[in-house]
Amino acid sequence: MSLTLKNNISQLLYQLSGLNAVEAIRFLTQQYPGQVTFSSSFSYEDQVISHDILNNQLPVKIFTLDTGRLFAETYSVWNSTNEKYNTKIKAYYPQADALQDFIENNGPNSFYESVDNRKQCCFIRKVEPLKRALAGNAVWITGLRAEHSANRHDLPIIEWDEANQIIKFHPLLHWTTEEVKAYINANYIPYNPLHDKGFVSIGCAPCTRAIKPGEDFRAGRWWWEDADKKECGLHVHETTAAGH
Ligand code: ADX
Ligand code: SF4
Repeated sequence: MSLTLKNNISQLLYQLSGLNAVEAIRFLTQQYPGQVTFSSSFSYEDQVISHDILNNQLPVKIFTLDTGRLFAETYSVWNSTNEKYNTKIKAYYPQADALQDFIENNGPNSFYESVDNRKQCCFIRKVEPLKRALAGNAVWITGLRAEHSANRHDLPIIEWDEANQIIKFHPLLHWTTEEVKAYINANYIPYNPLHDKGFVSIGCAPCTRAIKPGEDFRAGRWWWEDADKKECGLHVHETTAAGH
């Protein structure tokens, strides 16, 4: 199946051109019935996509990776989203044994001590659960935006993800922050209040801080590491040249 999926990318790029986000997602659900999934971290852009899916009853499975270290605000917006749209967003969790071994051997906050520990933590809490969440699907929708970082600037809107053997679609790739905010406000979409406090990209609480005006959007993630090490493993196709 993978080979066929991979070969469909250039045709899909052509078929999706000119469609808005809702039309594009609907088109993909018709092409791949029951095999389209969306990963939400409850960020601004992810909330736009969840709204589009839930408000239009598009048959897309929405999931989140609950690392166990998310902000309290993130759990609140997850809850408000379930309530507003009368849904239950599915969560994937780390394997208990792997997490237990890692914490017993390294302590709860070992990600500050070395890049290797940080990557192991990200692998156990995000990358491995992501593989389970994507299994059996043909299309993975994400909230990646070009404005997020230099690495994301040149991403195509639809691409082949070799690591996960899946088609990856980024419906808001070319939306600006202002467009995202305006859409959130116009549609009364619940959003993470940390966005109003200088947080742009929101991941796990111990590994995310607010940024100052003018700072790179990704400056608040794993800020203690060199820019070229900031690779969490969810979006591995991106090179590490500039701050992912
Ligand atoms: S990351 O690579 O730094 O962790 P980022 O926070 O920019 O990712 O989010 C980019 C996209 O990755 C989101 O729009 C979402 O699709 C996905 N994503 C990131 N974190 C999670 C999570 N905890 N659960 C589900 N999806 C996530
Ligand atoms: Fe662990 Fe931090 Fe990665 Fe979250 S972002 S999985 S806490 S290292």
